[in-house]
Amino acid sequence: MRARGHGRVIMHAVPIVLALAAASRAAAEEPPYGKLLHDTECLTCHTPAQYTRAKRLVNSLDELRKRVAYCRDDVGAEWDAAETEDVVRYLNTRYYRF
Ligand code: HEC
Repeated sequence: MRARGHGRVIMHAVPIVLALAAASRAAAEEPPYGKLLHDTECLTCHTPAQYTRAKRLVNSLDELRKRVAYCRDDVGAEWDAAETEDVVRYLNTRYYRF
């Protein structure tokens, strides 16, 4: 009797987690949604070591925006402008610091 319905609790938790991710999006310095998007789409070709290597390609915020858009289109991620900017902000806060 007790074990029944356990799976349902997990199903109900999913929309709550998504809502929390969306709600915290506006407030946080490093957007958690940016990490989520990045880790979902961007780890198939390179690891984050790409962002800190000595001879990295990206040397300004503008170049970072262009590169994220380029890789986004390359991988076919359907992010809108706000989602793309979240990933740019995530990479800049965590790795590039322009
Ligand atoms: C299809 C393979 C592929 C995927 C998927 C991919 N990238 Fe890339 N990315 C590359 C390659 C290749 C390079 C390096 C190009 C070079 O060294 O000339 C690169 C380089 C970069 C750089 C520049 C690193 C530097 O040197 O400063 C950034 C930033 C970047 N990718 C972001 C992303 C993001 C964000 C995503 C997810 C949308 C992503 N990449 C997904 C292939 C990919």
